[in-house]
Amino acid sequence: MKKVLIVFMIVIGIIVLLIGICIGGMAFIASSNNRYKGDYKATLPSSSASAPKALVVYQPSMKKTAANIADQIAKGLQDSGYEVTVSYPGKHLSPDVKDYKVVVFGSPVIMGKPSAALTDYISGLQNAADKKTAVFSVGSLDEAPELDIVEKSFKAAAINKKTKFKGTDKTSLDTAYEFGLDLGKE
Ligand SMILES: Cc1cc2nc3c(=O)[nH]c(=O)nc-3n(C[C@H](O)[C@H](O)[C@H](O)COP(=O)(O)O)c2cc1C
Repeated sequence: MKKVLIVFMIVIGIIVLLIGICIGGMAFIASSNNRYKGDYKATLPSSSASAPKALVVYQPSMKKTAANIADQIAKGLQDSGYEVTVSYPGKHLSPDVKDYKVVVFGSPVIMGKPSAALTDYISGLQNAADKKTAVFSVGSLDEAPELDIVEKSFKAAAINKKTKFKGTDKTSLDTAYEFGLDLGKE
């Protein structure tokens, strides 16, 4: 009887430990998604010196899904005639977007939430009211509450285009390219 009780207690202990590891792991991933990821900034040039400018700001994800989608959107914008700046959100990036005609925001989603690094950057934007705007998220679920959260953080106006990507297969990459191309042409 005592042995059975000891085995039972060990099993309960292991279950509690596993639950703790899962909760800790999810909390770690969520906090990583909210963290500042560095001052990455790249420019896709245009052949015309007078080309309109677009800004794509996204929070990177571990296996680069967000980066691959952001790069395709940026290529679409470039091919529609824009000079495109691509960057992570953060203090290295000016909150004043007066020089841009198009502004795109992107984030991975963890437990229904977009990156706080991105929404914090968006909340502080200046001169953003008259821009063409788009939001994308990357995640595994169909539901996309994160898109509304990002839109709410953008106080200047409603977001013009919103979409979610569920991977980086050829169809997703092509869709991302078309998303950028259409945004540039609209
Ligand atoms: C702990 C955890 C929670 C997640 N929660 C969501 C979620 O609520 N909605 C969703 O669409 N995807 C969710 N995902 C999927 C991630 O958004 C997806 O794995 C990530 O954006 C892809 O990035 P990566 O493959 O480049 O690392 C979750 C993933 C993890 C690990």
